[in-house]
Amino acid sequence: MNPGYVKMETKERNETGLWTDEVIGRIRSKMAWVSEKNRDKIPYTTDENGNYDDRSDRNRSWRIDDGLNWWTNGFWSGILWLLYQDTGEDRYARIARISEERMDRCFSDFYGLHHDVGFMYVPTAVADYRLTGNEVSRKRAMHAANLLAGRFNPAGRFIRAWNDLENEDTRGWAIIDCMFNLSLLYWASEESGDPRFRHIAMMHADTVMQYFVRPDGSVNHIVEFDPETGEMVRSLGGQGYGEGSSWTRGQGWALYGFMISYIHTGKQEYLDTAKKVAHYCMACIPESGLIPVDFRQPEQPAYEDSCSACVIAGGLLELAKHVPASEQAVYRNAALRILRAIDGQRADWSDGCDAIVQNCSAAYHADRHHFTMTYADYFFIEAVYKLKNIGRLLW
Ligand code: GLY
Repeated sequence: MNPGYVKMETKERNETGLWTDEVIGRIRSKMAWVSEKNRDKIPYTTDENGNYDDRSDRNRSWRIDDGLNWWTNGFWSGILWLLYQDTGEDRYARIARISEERMDRCFSDFYGLHHDVGFMYVPTAVADYRLTGNEVSRKRAMHAANLLAGRFNPAGRFIRAWNDLENEDTRGWAIIDCMFNLSLLYWASEESGDPRFRHIAMMHADTVMQYFVRPDGSVNHIVEFDPETGEMVRSLGGQGYGEGSSWTRGQGWALYGFMISYIHTGKQEYLDTAKKVAHYCMACIPESGLIPVDFRQPEQPAYEDSCSACVIAGGLLELAKHVPASEQAVYRNAALRILRAIDGQRADWSDGCDAIVQNCSAAYHADRHHFTMTYADYFFIEAVYKLKNIGRLLW
């Protein structure tokens, strides 16, 4: 190998190491006060003053699925378990359990729960059980896994996504995001020794490979199947720009989600699919490193989604760990480009805002864009820790 190249590579590695250490230092300092300030909340986003809201606030009237049942409610606890793994400080475990225990009411409410029980209970109950052996957490997670398995439609071999929506028959709807929820099913099989959960997860993942992932590596957000016959009916644009477009968070759920399926099953096609989605994403990353809401959206308005950016980066880093050494740099460098763009241009490290990652968007056609989301912080922190191999994979 050219000695000049080796020198340059070593220099780059040292610089990346320094940058990663600095960012980890900033994460530790910021989360030390953010966690104490918000210990009794289950936050989703910040208000105009930079203060976190509280999805568990019983004095506010929420819809059935956006209060305590809100799909992102596990991520606050997830952030705290990430910090617990990094620092070993018990106070992070204690705060994480406040959400986990509060969310028990979701099981008795039942109606607001849907396929996102994976997002809700993996970073809470599964994380708690895996890291501390808490038996009550195991029971919660098993309960959630059974609810998720119960949404499987054997005719179409898919997991039903949402419950009934106003004016929409969603009985046959599956969505790309569910690739992440599958980790709850893999955990349940590994923990109980009962392969049913894994079988369901793999049948769903196989359906997604067939009907969601396009030949170029872009993905559909929503696919509708006939709930009686299981035949595909149509695809929908969902939270992206439109039908046939490429919602970036969906790209992230697919990339990282297929990696999760590969890690738990060893099925080569899942790794190959993750690579295909990764290469498509890498080809679409803009020069700035900042990620739009949809890779196929018009140039204006230039809506961004920093949350997608962090999910994609996490998927790329996980992929880098499971390919031969000669292939790793391409995925790791793409992830680094994204994370450095977030740190340099879209991170708020001040005490003026409870959240770190700015400029997230839930959906292209939503009224509101460029706000904060706890799960963007979760995926940012998780990705930075991956660079240093801090903690175990929670998914
Ligand atoms: N799971 C829905 C989303 O990514 O917004």
